Amino acid sequence: MAFSFALFSSLLVTASALIAPRATTSLDTWLASETTVALQGIQDNIGDAGAYAESASSGIVIASPSTDDPDYYYTWTRDSALTMKVVVDLFRNGDSGLQGIIEEYIDAQAYIQTVSNPSGDLSTGGLGEPKFNVDMTAFTGSWGRPQRDGPALRAITLINFGEWLNDNGYETYAAEIVWPIVRNDLSYVTQYWNETGYDLWEEVDGSSFFTIINQYRALIQGSTFASAVGSSCPYCESQAPEILCYLQSFWLGDYILANFDESSRTGKDVNTILGSISTFDPDAGCDDSTFQPCSSRALANHKVVVDSFRDLYTINDDAAEGTACAVGRYPEDTYYNGNPWFLCTLAAAELLYDAVYQWDNNGEIVIDSTSLSFFTDLYSSAATGTYSSSSSEYTSIVDAVKTYADGFISIVQEHGMTNGSLSEQFDKSDGDELSAGDLTWSYAALLTANMRRNSVVPAPWGETTASSVPATCVSSSATGIYSTATDTAWPTTLTGGSSETTTASSGTTTTGSTTSTTSTKTTSTSTTTTACTTPTTVAVTFDLTATTVYGQNMFISGSISALGDWDTSDAIALSADDYTESDHLWFVTIDLPAGESFEYKYILVESDGTVVWADGDNESYTVPAVCGETTVTVDDTWDTTS
Ligand SMILES: *[C@@H]1O[C@H](CO)[C@@H](O)[C@H](O)[C@H]1NC(C)=O
Ligand SMILES: *[C@@H]1O[C@H](CO)[C@@H](O)[C@H](O)[C@H]1NC(C)=O
Ligand SMILES: *[C@@H]1O[C@H](CO)[C@@H](O)[C@H](O)[C@H]1NC(C)=O
Repeated sequence: MAFSFALFSSLLVTASALIAPRATTSLDTWLASETTVALQGIQDNIGDAGAYAESASSGIVIASPSTDDPDYYYTWTRDSALTMKVVVDLFRNGDSGLQGIIEEYIDAQAYIQTVSNPSGDLSTGGLGEPKFNVDMTAFTGSWGRPQRDGPALRAITLINFGEWLNDNGYETYAAEIVWPIVRNDLSYVTQYWNETGYDLWEEVDGSSFFTIINQYRALIQGSTFASAVGSSCPYCESQAPEILCYLQSFWLGDYILANFDESSRTGKDVNTILGSISTFDPDAGCDDSTFQPCSSRALANHKVVVDSFRDLYTINDDAAEGTACAVGRYPEDTYYNGNPWFLCTLAAAELLYDAVYQWDNNGEIVIDSTSLSFFTDLYSSAATGTYSSSSSEYTSIVDAVKTYADGFISIVQEHGMTNGSLSEQFDKSDGDELSAGDLTWSYAALLTANMRRNSVVPAPWGETTASSVPATCVSSSATGIYSTATDTAWPTTLTGGSSETTTASSGTTTTGSTTSTTSTKTTSTSTTTTACTTPTTVAVTFDLTATTVYGQNMFISGSISALGDWDTSDAIALSADDYTESDHLWFVTIDLPAGESFEYKYILVESDGTVVWADGDNESYTVPAVCGETTVTVDDTWDTTS
């Protein structure tokens, strides 16, 4: 079913177009260009083709090009995995141009797993090493190590890509290239989850919510992936319930404790919001046990954490509860004097968009005594109870939550650089960008927040199949399998829907483990029919009503390669085949990746070649990523007096 999206009223033909000052640019318009900057910013920070990462090895993601005050010209396992998770999602949504960097990243991780470092080697704890030099040698200076979130996050990102390979007929590659790397990371998680380590901010030695919740997800997803590649992960299955059990102890009754540690902090920390959004499952209910974004726990915690920054920063100007404010890492932060961060402010928005998606999916909002104070900030007459999606209260609450979420993104818009660059922090007093510039994670956070805002969600990871929380928790650990991943022979191009029938041997030598396995897998491809799938590509028809005279031609130009990247010589011609006396219709149909956001404008080319741009602001559009929606029509009008 196609829907019509009447976007604009009139576009007057004049040669001069005013550029809107940034402050008055709408959030939609800003996001359409900022998402392009962000994806380019990520690619610029990946070696060795990236403009800022030329001296980094192929597939190595640098944290930032900044080499001094602070020096972030290293590769962190955590930041890289979170960044490549977004890239994999974009690839799965149809941006096939990202195949190369995903494969290079995976190859680089296979190698880095084998590099001996101060935390150990492959089978003795080395996977917990937080960062490496950009040439993939070990960083041997003193550091907060180990950090146990890295292997879990990397496993999740690789599995997400492996699932796509399995779904598209590339089972051999999933089994032979991806699984051996993933298995090492899962083995690390099952062995060490119950030991302390440093948190994601690299400051606190203890047990961190962000780490534990991602370890849980990695084992659930890992167990399913193991079966899908013809292997198994009994150590995942034995440890996942214990991790889930321990995870419950972070809930303090009114907010989530960020770390069990010796520090005197309150434990209010964006660590917890980041934990909920990185384990968001679009199919999940509002489950408290896994702190899903729409759960009462996650919402109550969102309020407590965000409120802890309201009075802390001058730029927040005592923003009232329920209105957006700049968000930092944790209120006691003193790094660079303690400032808001772009990725933290974006995380506050993303959790809310995730919650909206889950409410819509569940068809209701349930308010209980835990979440009530979150809701009353936004909707003063909120009361405990269930609000069906057909009720007016539901609509009012969802609208208020979306407005609240957009407010956080607007703060990022306000403090990002005019050219779209996002650093790590912005000054708590004057709002200027601070610390490392072009921070890869800031760009990744912008892209995920934008996708969730457009209801573009990642694939489910199996939250709904998870076990219930055990009645009593026990300390535990399980030994898995460590083996050097050696296969890096990727196919030249990966296209959706390839078919493959093969017998693959995924046996590898094992070290430092209890068992040696050799598994043989037989795969055959069958066509899976599901009731409704979200397309990766949507045929977008641009219908433009424009009164023209013989010799004039209409084109469309825009910010993505399919529209010529604003280069008028690569603009796409519209057809006048359906132009009649009564219906002045120009049209063109272009296949675009589902979920892609972009800006565009129409161009009239006179018979003598003179180019006339439409007047006014650039138009912005996001291709729907909706189940079953494979075609869509955009209706535009060009009013001309000529
Ligand atoms: C290990 O797990 C037990 C049981 O959940 C828990 O009480 C203990 O605090 C955990 N220790 C660490 C360091 O994770
Ligand atoms: C924006 O400008 C800054 C310096 O003024 C530069 O470091 C950064 O790379 C630029 N970003 C983009 C996206 O052009
Ligand atoms: C439209 O976008 C292009 C490319 O970013 C920019 O050069 C141009 O100024 C924009 N036009 C308006 C009217 O904002």
